[in-house]
Amino acid sequence: MANKGTLLVTGASGHLGQQVLESLLKKSDGKNKIIATSRDKNKLKSFTDRGVDTRSADFGDAASLDQAFAGADRLLIISTDAIGSRLAQHKNAIDAAVKAGVKHLVYTSWINPDRSPALVAADHIATEKLIEKSGLTYTILRNSFYTDNLLGALPHAIQSGTLAGAQGGGRQAYVTREDCARAAAGALLSEDYTNAIYDITGPRAVSYPELAKILSEISGKEIKSLDLPASDYKGALVGSGLPEPVAELFLSFDLSVKQGSVAGVSTAVKDLSGQAPQDIKDFLIANKKSFLS
Ligand SMILES: NC(=O)c1ccc[n+]([C@@H]2O[C@H](COP(=O)([O-])OP(=O)(O)OC[C@H]3O[C@@H](n4cnc5c(N)ncnc54)[C@H](OP(=O)(O)O)[C@@H]3O)[C@@H](O)[C@H]2O)c1
Repeated sequence: MANKGTLLVTGASGHLGQQVLESLLKKSDGKNKIIATSRDKNKLKSFTDRGVDTRSADFGDAASLDQAFAGADRLLIISTDAIGSRLAQHKNAIDAAVKAGVKHLVYTSWINPDRSPALVAADHIATEKLIEKSGLTYTILRNSFYTDNLLGALPHAIQSGTLAGAQGGGRQAYVTREDCARAAAGALLSEDYTNAIYDITGPRAVSYPELAKILSEISGKEIKSLDLPASDYKGALVGSGLPEPVAELFLSFDLSVKQGSVAGVSTAVKDLSGQAPQDIKDFLIANKKSFLS
């Protein structure tokens, strides 16, 4: 059931936040007041110009949130990027939402956070539990690995002819950030998804050997997948210039693939947004300029 309430998106200057706002502006059709918050409100000027009520909000500054959240009925908490230290930030946001009289929370989580070895999982499962205990109704969106994340690693894979990882042949149901945004907008706009948890995935799960085949077709060059022991893969990432904590984070995503916890495919994107999620191959073809020289 659609609602006419006031919808608030936090982290609205981020990649996902901007896309959620675009989807809301398109779908709400003026029926909902829309509030967008960011640590830097100046970054939201283009949305202010389009009638969005833009406000400053920093989850690290609890006092800033009372005013920022005032008047919101349904509020999307976009998880912050402070991996490992964001639970306190998320708690501030949840507490402020309760205080401000928000009725429904939507939160961007991670697939199977209760058993995932991904280093992002602990903050997410702890935040989910805080939301469940908040007394507010909620929709948890467990976003799979963004297909968009692949783009950074692909130029090297194409150039070297090798797609290296430590996924052990496991599959991952990549989802585009735009599909995550559309699903989040759907969860804000409709009251049909109350006290529910969804895996937000693409339409199929793909292994590295399968991805290498897709890349070979797109690039016209043979790309092979190479599965490495975890320590070798981490060493290769550090050797390529990544700081050790970032290498450990990347490795932990591969280990979640190996574990099999990111292979499930759901219909949630279509259910929440009304639009089928984009296939990984279609996304890569549409963005091939970013990784083919
Ligand atoms: N599933 C995946 O593959 C995947 C990949 C990357 C990230 N993520 C998660 O999904 C979130 C959104 O992704 P994205 O691509 O939009 O990332 P992004 O562009 O890096 O955005 C980071 C987000 O964190 C917000 N943020 C950081 N510190 C904050 C604070 N103190 N208070 C309030 N908000 C704060 C930012 O809001 P403002 O700058 O507007 O304040 C922004 O929305 C990320 O933050 C991360 O938790 C998931």
